Amino acid sequence: MSHASSRAAMTETATPAGAAGTARLGAPDWVRHERLIEWVRSIAELAQPDRIHWCDGSQQEYDRLCDQMVAAGTLRRLDPARRPGSFLALSDPDDVARVEDRTFICSEKREDAGPTNNWTDPAQMRATLSKLFDGCMRGRTMYVVPFSMGPLGSHISHLGIEITDSPYVAVSMRIMTRMGRAVYDLLGEDGGFVPAVHSVGRPLAAGEKDVPWPCNETKYIVHYPETREIWSFGSGYGGNALLGKKCFALRIASNMGRQAVQAGGIGWLAEHMLILGVTSPAGKKYHVAAAFPSACGKTNFAMLIPPRSFEGWKVTTIGDDIAWIKPHSDGRLYAINPEAGFFGVAPGTSEKTNPNCLASLRENTIFTNVALTDDGDVWWEGLSEPPAHLIDWQGRDWTPADGKAGRKAAHPNSRFTVSAAQCPSIDPHWDSVEGVPIDAFIFGGRRSTTVPLVTEARDWVEGVYMAATMGSETTAAQAGATGVVRRDPFAMLPFCGYHMGDYFAHWLDLGHRLQAGGAKLPRIYCVNWFRTDENGKFVWPGFGENMRVLKWMIDRIEGVGGGVEHVFGTTPRYEDLNWNGLEFGSAAYDKITSIDRAAWREEFALHAELFGRLADRLPHSLQATKERFEQRLESGA
Ligand code: GTP
Ligand code: SPV
Ligand code: MN
Repeated sequence: MSHASSRAAMTETATPAGAAGTARLGAPDWVRHERLIEWVRSIAELAQPDRIHWCDGSQQEYDRLCDQMVAAGTLRRLDPARRPGSFLALSDPDDVARVEDRTFICSEKREDAGPTNNWTDPAQMRATLSKLFDGCMRGRTMYVVPFSMGPLGSHISHLGIEITDSPYVAVSMRIMTRMGRAVYDLLGEDGGFVPAVHSVGRPLAAGEKDVPWPCNETKYIVHYPETREIWSFGSGYGGNALLGKKCFALRIASNMGRQAVQAGGIGWLAEHMLILGVTSPAGKKYHVAAAFPSACGKTNFAMLIPPRSFEGWKVTTIGDDIAWIKPHSDGRLYAINPEAGFFGVAPGTSEKTNPNCLASLRENTIFTNVALTDDGDVWWEGLSEPPAHLIDWQGRDWTPADGKAGRKAAHPNSRFTVSAAQCPSIDPHWDSVEGVPIDAFIFGGRRSTTVPLVTEARDWVEGVYMAATMGSETTAAQAGATGVVRRDPFAMLPFCGYHMGDYFAHWLDLGHRLQAGGAKLPRIYCVNWFRTDENGKFVWPGFGENMRVLKWMIDRIEGVGGGVEHVFGTTPRYEDLNWNGLEFGSAAYDKITSIDRAAWREEFALHAELFGRLADRLPHSLQATKERFEQRLESGA
């Protein structure tokens, strides 16, 4: 833990795996879970590491692993005065983002994974992985990393153990999750956990010198939803390797939330959403969860600082990437952030765009694939005027002339890893075991055309429709081409661990069940900060100014917000937003709120394409909603 227990003395370290035959495999006495030890043994026998290290999550352990990585060339210590306790890692240039085409949902039946996921028969996948993992940790240390997704002991939280041969992953997991000894106290002798196995896939021959960022050309990110297992091979980067994040907290957890219904419960949601609190000058607090695709502004929105003209308004951060949301006995939906840190996009982060984020990064931060300044600090595009000389993310010299020639100093998907507790806007309840009650859901894509600034859905079903049919232009967060519009339902396209049609049905059913119990459901909004003008420039200023849109949502919740109803919901008129302190005329406003009928005809054709792909399990009400919308569009209503 980065908490009190981290002071605990270091226990066993680096047990020679030659001693693997001994009964407990060098497990410290606070590991009392025989089945867990047996599982670790089975992985050690397969992967054949030289040593096993049982992580306790202490500060000493973290410091020692970082020192080892500095010695090995994986990390570079940044200037202790400019960036205390911080490091820079430069990855292999071929290991810089999530690999969606190498990500698999291996359910027993292909139909259960659905057409939006890669699928392979689990038995066949197990055979493939057994071969790849055979001896893959030779020459390395195998780390056993215990973690909790969610506040320790929360009824919404779940536990996991990641086995990894990457010390970078082990230290990152200490920042990103509640990692350490306290997890074993919760597990006791036979508690449940999600087993996750990770290898960079680069065994070392006897005496062979390691490379700074080991990885393998062959990559597999594999999930078995029925047995709730994760296996990851070949990558050390982000969501490919920090298995608590997308693999567990989204792909496996989305399955768990739905399996809970099949087991007779009401079920829950695992979503690609930030969570924020917003408090009015009168002191009334609301909570909002917002789903935007990767690198589309969740971190920014979660840490928003209201413009000066919004005196008395305050935004607090609960999470920036993932929300687990569960119905409470009062009929409301409560959300927790299953993570304990931010793995956020560096480029574009500045004193102007996100001062809270920048302040979070002042110390104790691991930066990956940003540029290094001559005085031992970090730099990325959008931070400030470029310095005269840098070392770029590939370790090469860089000057502003290179920038002008189009060579970026920081990789577009370069990121920081930092504890959430360091964020100045962190909410006092961010670590609460109860979670926070959600008043509104927001869905937003990156669309240069078509989609208006903000729309309120008329009801739950129409809101689910808007989320389900959302499109967004791809970013550097996923390997492959950027700027291509694709359907990204609920910002979950790469993260939903089962059939997308069943996922829509799960959202609809949960709404129906809560409504039947008399609950008032959260409102649903759709936003787009990214409409551009004739010159390709963003029209909407975004960032802190998004507060104006957030305030309108609260006005609507309070029944005082005006708007005009159109094809698929209600959008504020110019005069319905507060413009104090911002020069933004009604002509510009029209540019980002107008509904172009021809563009929407095309948009509905794209919805039809998605629905066609999901036809075997598409809920009827969504098809019916589409027909209603199209009729409205054609009748000009
Ligand atoms: P993941 O961590 O990948 O899930 O993404 P995220 O949604 O947290 O992304 P993040 O907030 O880091 O978004 C980064 C990108 O979005 C940067 O390029 C920002 O400049 C841009 N961005 C964020 N907010 C806004 C906004 O309000 N307007 C505009 N135009 N760009 C924004
Ligand atoms: C995303 O791509 O949505 C991320 C970064 O949040 S990663 O952890 O790499 O998935
Ligand atoms: Mn994300």
